[in-house]
Amino acid sequence: MFGRIACGYDRANRLLSGGLDILWRRRMVAEVIRALNDAPPFAGGAADQGKRPAGHRVLDLAAGTMDVSLGLAEALPGSVVLAADFCLPMLLAGEVKRQRRQPCSSAGRVLPLAADGFALPLPAHAVHAVTLAFGLRNMQPRSAALAEIFRVLTPGGRLYVLEFGSAGGKLWGGLYNIYLRHLLPRVGGLLAGDRAAYDYLATTIEEFPPAGELGREMLAVGFCSVRPIRLSGGIVFLHIAEK
Ligand SMILES: C[S@@+](CC[C@H](N)C(=O)[O-])C[C@H]1O[C@@H](n2cnc3c(N)ncnc32)[C@H](O)[C@@H]1O
Repeated sequence: MFGRIACGYDRANRLLSGGLDILWRRRMVAEVIRALNDAPPFAGGAADQGKRPAGHRVLDLAAGTMDVSLGLAEALPGSVVLAADFCLPMLLAGEVKRQRRQPCSSAGRVLPLAADGFALPLPAHAVHAVTLAFGLRNMQPRSAALAEIFRVLTPGGRLYVLEFGSAGGKLWGGLYNIYLRHLLPRVGGLLAGDRAAYDYLATTIEEFPPAGELGREMLAVGFCSVRPIRLSGGIVFLHIAEK
């Protein structure tokens, strides 16, 4: 399904969110940068503390067309950003964008990685942060996906999940639901040429758990703290979980 919509995916995102999706991803990248700059990484384990910092390693899971991966690499000189997705057409669309953007020479490197989020080809404690923008909704069982992310994070590393909320409030929630059920599938179908994909989007948004419940699921796989940040009146939440 993602392969079918890969070509029109970015354009549909911009139009359907009125450009807000750019701001949501930017906020996530800013939170990652802030945390990583507070904790410079070291080439090895505890014995390397006090030595010269090496680059950060960040996994952008369900990277799609790599908007988050590119934002991270541009803001994190010397870093390696693994852009992982199991859908090659999405990664290819991202790769075309990466080559067009010509990042400055100090930017980090983006490495596309064809991989399933349930079985990441990475050793334990491999990355300092994991970002997952609009991807967790598609991963069932969620607890298995969260456990796999937990495995590859370094102790103290953070998971950043950007996902749709259900929009609180009677009026706002009602309008949002009309948008989700009626406008989104029609417009998305026209823009990306696949109405079924946008029906699926509306269904998965409705089925996604509220912030408190997702937080409990994250704590259950071992994360020690979870902080939800409400964006755009609850249309989207940024959930930050620390290992
Ligand atoms: C809605 S797109 C989000 C893409 C991107 N993160 C963004 O912000 O636009 C969801 C992506 O999740 C990917 N995906 C879904 N399940 C996956 C899995 N089990 N492993 C890896 N990628 C997955 C899809 O291929 C798709 O590219």
